Amino acid sequence: MVLEILTYPNRKLKQKSKPVEKFDEKLHKLLDDMHDTMASKNGVGLAGVQVGALQRLFIINIPDEDGNYYPENLIEAINPKILDKRGETVYEEGCLSIPDYYEEVKRADEVDVEYQDREGNKIQRTLSGLEAIAFQHELDHLDGHLFIEKLNYLKRKKFDKEWKKRHGKFR
Ligand code: CO
Repeated sequence: MVLEILTYPNRKLKQKSKPVEKFDEKLHKLLDDMHDTMASKNGVGLAGVQVGALQRLFIINIPDEDGNYYPENLIEAINPKILDKRGETVYEEGCLSIPDYYEEVKRADEVDVEYQDREGNKIQRTLSGLEAIAFQHELDHLDGHLFIEKLNYLKRKKFDKEWKKRHGKFR
């Protein structure tokens, strides 16, 4: 089932998500619905808070060049943490909560991560490239942060101006 995606500047997006304690049917349904929702927008990642669920979880699935998703590439990260990060990379990021806006963001190039899967099993792995970037982007969502907060002053001003023009002052 495709869920509604909250968009900036919805205040819920600034809230901190809470740890997941129950690995039950309800959680599995949420994760499945989040995948449907992400795929409907051709996204690469989606955090719970973006569909109004303030739980520490997100999904990542990097589609191939033709936009196909493969289940073996799906990361369902519950109670995720970054244990270590290395290197630096710049990538033009977007966010389903900030539609049609893309800007370069600097992040670590490689991350050692830990999370639980949908059954509650602990997983540790090292991610690089787009998966590492997406993991950092999604983890920020769980702490109430959006990628536009990482822009420098001028780029942020440009964003605010563009957004106002697009959506009107009071949205
Ligand atoms: Co996002």
